Amino acid sequence: MNAFAGRMEGRQGVTGSYLEIRDLVKSYDGYQQAVRGISLAIAKGEFVSFLGPSGSGKTTTLMMVAGFEQPTAGRIVLGGREIAPVPPHKRNIGMVFQNYALFPHMTAAENVGFPLRMRKRPAAEITRRSREALAMVGLADFAGRQPRELSGGQQQRVALARALVFEPDVLLLDEPLGALDKNLREHMQVEIKRIHRELGITTIYVTHDQTEAMTMSDRIAVFSQGVVEQFAAPLDVYLRPATRFVGGFVGDSNFFEASGRTGMLEVAGLGTLSLPQAPVSASGRYDVLVRPEAIGLWRGSGDRAGHCVVPFTVTALVNYGDSVLLIGSSGDLSLRARIPFMLATDIREGTALSLSWRHADMHCIPA
Ligand SMILES: Nc1ncnc2c1ncn2[C@@H]1O[C@H](COP(=O)(O)OP(=O)(O)O)[C@@H](O)[C@H]1O
Ligand SMILES: [Mg+2]
Repeated sequence: MNAFAGRMEGRQGVTGSYLEIRDLVKSYDGYQQAVRGISLAIAKGEFVSFLGPSGSGKTTTLMMVAGFEQPTAGRIVLGGREIAPVPPHKRNIGMVFQNYALFPHMTAAENVGFPLRMRKRPAAEITRRSREALAMVGLADFAGRQPRELSGGQQQRVALARALVFEPDVLLLDEPLGALDKNLREHMQVEIKRIHRELGITTIYVTHDQTEAMTMSDRIAVFSQGVVEQFAAPLDVYLRPATRFVGGFVGDSNFFEASGRTGMLEVAGLGTLSLPQAPVSASGRYDVLVRPEAIGLWRGSGDRAGHCVVPFTVTALVNYGDSVLLIGSSGDLSLRARIPFMLATDIREGTALSLSWRHADMHCIPA
């Protein structure tokens, strides 16, 4: 661990909420709301992703935390202190923007030292800490290069070092890897997680990439149209989505409409099923989710206890190498089933077969 990581280490391991966003609202034009009442409590040292489609309010929320946008209503509390009235440079929050935003005529070291110059630190300290921060992101040997002499990935590391150099309480990353190709993106994901582990810094990571959010985060806040639909651990979001939007946005899905009240649900296309896992629905209506990988081929005949069994005609196959996605229909139902490649070698477009899945794998979302 280098000196930089050593100084930051004491910040790790505190539990309870550290960064709290309460009933946050933002309207840019006084008419439409880009953020419509978001509340989140983030623990110290936590790595949280904001995941959602373009225009769902992720950047707007981040900019309010950073202080570059003023909330229309609501509160932001950091370490017990209300920060809405505090200007950005006094919040001790580091931010990396999607487009790097490096100063083109400064070297990497000068870019990284910039926040310290703004804070009027002595020259010797600026030199030393800039060097440490560049070493932290693996760019010790590139201090003298200008941005145009660096690759996209290296430029983004410089931006990261610049956000970390003043030892911020919170690190905000707005789609930092969006412009990088796939291999570099995966490499940088690992690097960012390493830095997070070493520094223990509370981090918010904005992305529209569900895989990135799933693999990197302690918790994911799923954004849609200015609200957070679910804030939970990655596997909870995947296995127990709170809303139909979350179930459809994260991962591949089959949805069935259903109604009923006592765990006996009438499921469109499937008949009456006993689904005791269904929570109470005030409307009596449900969206029932079954993941394609929970559906398998069924070579038996007749009913299968605790399972749905349906006839199925394949209309398209998508080969992923290790698995095959079967797309097709069962009567009026469209279905997607993902099965191991080895089981699909004799399946073609037009093949008629039977599919089966467990009632227990039907996740019921009140509609
Ligand atoms: N500076 C701005 N002025 C006016 N509207 C904006 C501004 N920034 C964002 N918006 C609007 O606010 C909504 C949320 O945008 P944004 O927070 O950028 O979403 P995301 O980061 O999730 O893509 C969008 O409808 C967008 O058009
Ligand atoms: Mg954005």
